[in-house]
Amino acid sequence: MRISTAEVVKHEGKEVQLFGWVHSRRDHGKLVFIDLRDRSGLVQVVFGPEMKEAGDLRLEYVVKVMGKVAKRPEKLVNNKIATGAYEIQATGLEILSASKELPMPLDTDGREIGEDVRMKYRYLDLRRERLTRNLMVRHKVTKYIRDFLSERGFVEIETPYLGKSTPEGARDYLVPSRLQKGNFYALPQSPQQYKQLLMVGGLERYFQIVRCFRDEDTRGDRQPEFTQLDLEMSFVTQEDILNLTEELFIKLTSELFPEKKISTLTAEGGFGKLTTGKFPRLKYVDVMKKYHSDKPDLRKDKNDPNELAFAFVVDFPMFEKKDDGSIGAVHHPFTFPTFDTSLVPDDFKPGSENSKKLFKMLDSEKEGLKLSAYQYDFVLNGYEVGGGSIRTYDPALLKRVFEFLGNKPEEVEKQFGHMFEAFNYGVPPHGGIAPGIDRLVMLYQNESNIREVIAFPKTGDGRDLMMGAPSEVDKKQLDDLGLKLKG
Ligand code: AMO
Repeated sequence: MRISTAEVVKHEGKEVQLFGWVHSRRDHGKLVFIDLRDRSGLVQVVFGPEMKEAGDLRLEYVVKVMGKVAKRPEKLVNNKIATGAYEIQATGLEILSASKELPMPLDTDGREIGEDVRMKYRYLDLRRERLTRNLMVRHKVTKYIRDFLSERGFVEIETPYLGKSTPEGARDYLVPSRLQKGNFYALPQSPQQYKQLLMVGGLERYFQIVRCFRDEDTRGDRQPEFTQLDLEMSFVTQEDILNLTEELFIKLTSELFPEKKISTLTAEGGFGKLTTGKFPRLKYVDVMKKYHSDKPDLRKDKNDPNELAFAFVVDFPMFEKKDDGSIGAVHHPFTFPTFDTSLVPDDFKPGSENSKKLFKMLDSEKEGLKLSAYQYDFVLNGYEVGGGSIRTYDPALLKRVFEFLGNKPEEVEKQFGHMFEAFNYGVPPHGGIAPGIDRLVMLYQNESNIREVIAFPKTGDGRDLMMGAPSEVDKKQLDDLGLKLKG
């Protein structure tokens, strides 16, 4: 019977089969000891003098071991590993594959090893306990999210990767089209427009755990491709979205990370219930004044690895004046502007007095720059772990916002004509949010770089050292695409 190393503790006295890697090896002449590793952990295997083939074992060989599970004598118990009270007394061994000498050690946490080696041999790096665990925890997080949202009537829907440029503000990754020579797809910086079009499509509650692509410089919390929990809802207020996000992360934390304490959680209706409560909603102006950052670290004790300080930053300005004098949207142009965040978007129905006032304010730069937005950032321990907004669904107002941003009508039509067209056919008021999965898992796992929770991340300069990407391509491929390299 095949069991995992973690299951050894349940099989005392039984004959078992184990598969795995030789994690460490001690040859005591007559006896050979190995620590056998699989993804669940380690177990010690003892080979007696009759098992000569054990002498051939080397680090990272893949083996099949047959043997009996035995309790170790009291004084030989190894408390450092979960199966340390047991060992396998081997009766059979098959070497399934051999390994060359390793380019780096795998029995450390790997932090001492240079990025070049770790990334070139990422498949070896992933055997490291810390990395295996990070990926397994990441799976639990995404599974929890999928279950939580599915139970609440959300539908997971895939949207195209080959799409059109989005207004998220970073540089796009472009993909040349072979069939439409001279034209390019853009990989999505986020599925922003698609999810809004799903609302027009009547789906009401959408989510997707989705890869996003942004051609920006890599940092500890930034990768060129990263993963969002992207969601969008129809007929909701900002508070509805914040409440849902809050409930998701309070429950997820308490169920998957019981050792963590949410220090910013204020109980509702008295203390005692760990799975309910509120994250603070902090106004952007107050946060900037007090912390000089829009992603404040609100932990009470920054040395405590188990403290999580979640908060929402709300009431962002809609527009900002950039260094070059031009006006930009703080979030994106689809965000709903407001002059009074105590009102809800339904108070701004097209044609209403409030809506007329918005239009009027957008007539002058001075007044327009005073507008706030139904926009929120989700912050945790000094990181922005999510962002979202209620969207402008009145096409006339949206047009006015684009004009305010200095876009020429023909440009807007060319880039976003499909959105305006869609919004002419009965569009539900809608809004959403997109928490960043990589950053959240990084913080849950006390890592300081998101590449530690991504199976195959890019290096600081955007390369995949393992596969050798980006790489040159054949001239024939370029010809097919109608492309010619300069110089
Ligand atoms: P935004 O651009 O704020 O919003 O992104 C949402 C969240 O995605 C994460 N994130 C990143 N994570 C790793 N590497 C990156 N390069 C990177 N860029 C962003 C962050 C961030 O908070 N469409 C809107 C959401 C919405 O309006 O619903 C959007 O993408 O955690």
